[in-house]
Amino acid sequence: MAEEEAAQQHFHAAGATVTLQGHHAPGKSSASCWGMVIRCRAAVAWATGKPLSLEEVEVAPPKAGEVRIKIVATGICRTDDHILEGSFPDVDFPVIPGHEGAGIVESLGEGVTSVKPGEKVILVSLPHCGECSFCLNPESNYCLKSHLSEPQNLLPDKTSRFTCKGKQIHHFLWVSTFSEYTVIPEYAVAKIDAAAPLDKVCLLGCGFSTGYGAAINAAKVKPGSTCAIFGLGGVGLSVVIGCKVAGASRIIAIDINKDKFAKAKELGATDCLNPRDFKKPIQEVVTEMTGHGVDYSFEAIGLADTMIAALASCNMNTGVCVMVGLADSGSLISIDPMLLLSGRTWKGTLLGGWKMRDCIPKLVSSYLEKKFNSDLLITHTLPITKVNEGFELLRAGKSIRTVLLF
Ligand code: APR
Ligand code: ZN
Ligand code: ZN
Repeated sequence: MAEEEAAQQHFHAAGATVTLQGHHAPGKSSASCWGMVIRCRAAVAWATGKPLSLEEVEVAPPKAGEVRIKIVATGICRTDDHILEGSFPDVDFPVIPGHEGAGIVESLGEGVTSVKPGEKVILVSLPHCGECSFCLNPESNYCLKSHLSEPQNLLPDKTSRFTCKGKQIHHFLWVSTFSEYTVIPEYAVAKIDAAAPLDKVCLLGCGFSTGYGAAINAAKVKPGSTCAIFGLGGVGLSVVIGCKVAGASRIIAIDINKDKFAKAKELGATDCLNPRDFKKPIQEVVTEMTGHGVDYSFEAIGLADTMIAALASCNMNTGVCVMVGLADSGSLISIDPMLLLSGRTWKGTLLGGWKMRDCIPKLVSSYLEKKFNSDLLITHTLPITKVNEGFELLRAGKSIRTVLLF
């Protein structure tokens, strides 16, 4: 029977052999696996503290309101590493991590209208339902369907689309971009320009947008201003890019790894400081260098001490400090209240303040118009089979962003 033949076919996608199981929906193109289970490769985290294992997983078809996407490229973000370390107890194992991905729509669940098979998309790790009170507020980019309000370890109907060796595998932030195919709700998909190179713009799914938006949206950096950025990973260097695009005249880049300084300068940093080179606290060094502290400071590491140092580095009265780094769950900060009473503004930002489904396509257009060059953040490109090597490079401080290709 033709339908059963189709159910057992093999086809080649990006060099990989994918085995299909299931049945074609009547009237759908045989090039798509519409309605079928797809067997493909994914990097699975079975437990905390262990390397990822490359497995063959089954990816069920999308249900109503969901989209199945073929992932083409995904970045490795420090948050994925925090997950593997077990720093976030609200993430359930086994899980397929990854949240900085770009791909092509493969098939749609019932009722999905905003994207079509074959279209290029970025998966957004901060959803944008467009209907909740936060989405309806023009000032907010937080959506009540976000992980902080309701864990995204399963899809909204509280089931998983992933299985491996007979076990259910959890989703991560809904997106799970370390799988060749993934299923996510429609409101976590942003359709982008067909001309966009997916192996480059995947960074706009998290790291780049987070850092760049911290400067542009959260701080609203003004031309001629002074800025200090703590932490020069993919996120902090994206803050540097944002400060430069916004016209800051002095950009002070701070990291304990001096190997990050050449890239920071290439992206627009005017001064680079290693706190370990100074006897006095780095906030005092920054304050002396600038007279009364910087106009804008940013913390892109996720540590309590550097959060306080960043706050104290900005002007005591008019300074704005933006928290970008993600601290381990349960972390606490204790500060001298005078730091704020004197007038400083201390704020945080998630995903750079962008309303994701509206803004990511526009950021992709800005990328294509060369308003910024996020490609400079990509230091390594590896096949998904080398995912653990990608994490080793990050832990050793040797990479900014590694892009994994399927
Ligand atoms: N002082 C200064 N710099 C530091 C310190 C410190 N005490 N500790 C670490 N760093 C530097 C590291 O050397 C590294 O260059 O901070 C940088 C952090 O970069 P990455 O680990 O590459 O992380 P990134 O992906 O940029 O994410 C930064 O944002 O999304 C969150 O979870 C993520 O909290 C993390 C942060
Ligand atoms: Zn919403
Ligand atoms: Zn991230």
